[in-house]
Amino acid sequence: MPKKLAAGNWKMNGSSASAPEVAALLPRIADVSCQVLLCPPATLVTSMKNWAGSSDLLIGGQDCHANESGAHTGDISAAMLADAGATHVILGHSERRADHGETDAMVKAKTRAAHAAGLVAIVCVGETEAERDDSRALDVVGAQIAGSLPDGVTGDSTVIAYEPVWAIGTGRTPTLEQIGEVHDFLRDTLTRQLGTEGANLRLLYGGSVKPGNAAEIFAVSNVDGALVGGASLNSSDFSGIIEALD
Ligand code: G3P
Repeated sequence: MPKKLAAGNWKMNGSSASAPEVAALLPRIADVSCQVLLCPPATLVTSMKNWAGSSDLLIGGQDCHANESGAHTGDISAAMLADAGATHVILGHSERRADHGETDAMVKAKTRAAHAAGLVAIVCVGETEAERDDSRALDVVGAQIAGSLPDGVTGDSTVIAYEPVWAIGTGRTPTLEQIGEVHDFLRDTLTRQLGTEGANLRLLYGGSVKPGNAAEIFAVSNVDGALVGGASLNSSDFSGIIEALD
């Protein structure tokens, strides 16, 4: 399995004025053994790559089109993200599934395109509060896994992020037992679907990860890192999470 991963999803935040915040992060991650990734808006990928300089900070995108090029106004291809300096791309985030009607089939096609461009795909799955309340969380994430992954998935090409929708941006998180139940289920599901390679995919938890809860979350079985939203915008908070993972 590749190194543990602390990934930051800046969502629709950040600008050229964010350079000092990234600069403050670099000395804090200089000697960590885990991978550290920031995914800014696409307009900042190249700038952030430049701000990262010779550091080990990885830069990613937050989405990509399923096609390599063409008449898709406003969209960005995986190849364009790679050309801008990205090494990873978040796909199927619940906000895109909700805001843009993204289906499992669309996420699968985007993941295939990311792989073709040499990007590591971080595929997001997670249940809504209503689905959790109906005790359907495992059914939902199991179906998303089955429908969102193309052939040829490996631990080097793909990461799975479990993000319960009701925990994103709310300050609420599942219990450690609930996180463990889903992550163990994802590991079993991936091993059944992919064979031994299923043991090599990193499983990230995302949804209100903060410096204060990161260590206990990372101690849960089959949690190999985090996909962090709000806390990744602040170098001190994100460093605290990274230190807990390391
Ligand atoms: O992709 C990560 C994001 O959805 C989690 O957001 O602010 O709850 O850490 P946040």
